[in-house]
Amino acid sequence: MTTADAETGRPRTTRVDCRPSGSRYLVFAPDDDSAWYRDLLVSPQATLEIDGVPHAARAVPLEGGEPGFALHLLEVDAARGRAIADQLLVHHGELRKTLAAARAELDGAPAARRTELRGELLGHCVTFCNDLRMHHLREDGAFTAIEKAHPGLAPALKRLRQEHESVSRALCDLDRLLQGKGEIDRAALRDEFERVVKGLEEHFAYEEANLLPALRGEDQVAPSG
Ligand SMILES: [Fe+2]
Ligand SMILES: [Fe+2]
Repeated sequence: MTTADAETGRPRTTRVDCRPSGSRYLVFAPDDDSAWYRDLLVSPQATLEIDGVPHAARAVPLEGGEPGFALHLLEVDAARGRAIADQLLVHHGELRKTLAAARAELDGAPAARRTELRGELLGHCVTFCNDLRMHHLREDGAFTAIEKAHPGLAPALKRLRQEHESVSRALCDLDRLLQGKGEIDRAALRDEFERVVKGLEEHFAYEEANLLPALRGEDQVAPSG
């Protein structure tokens, strides 16, 4: 099960015993100090991997005071589909804003501040990488339910899952460049940054173009691109 760390927001993956109960899964914490238990009290969204398949789940505290949660796996009906579409756009907007801030940093830094640039970009990158990892993890879970409700989206979802992996590899490369020692190669940094941003922008655009109409119940179109 992956939760969002209550303090840092970073993904935290923990092996847990789940007990199926009707359409839900029950998870019991050994005590109310368990990290994942505290995470879910703060943010009740979890990604549950069952037999290698990720599922988005909403955690509801167990009644009776026992430390644990009932995990309700996401099911995409019309209302939920619209909510997912809205949420997706909000998250993409936030991620685009962080990217724009990083680009402004890269473009606007005067020569005297160049030595600080690495630290500031690294800060942006760490925040952005964590937010994006969480976003993609949750999407991978939601895609399972979206595919069940809209089987016609299977080819687009397959491509999007693959892109989640290639985007995370590109981010790792950028991170390595920023973490490196010695003089920062501004041109190389700029190239790498633009490569990551271009890949991400294409990913966001493809995701929005292919998922939003179906999630909103509008006329479905064949996957583009
Ligand atoms: Fe995505
Ligand atoms: Fe997305």
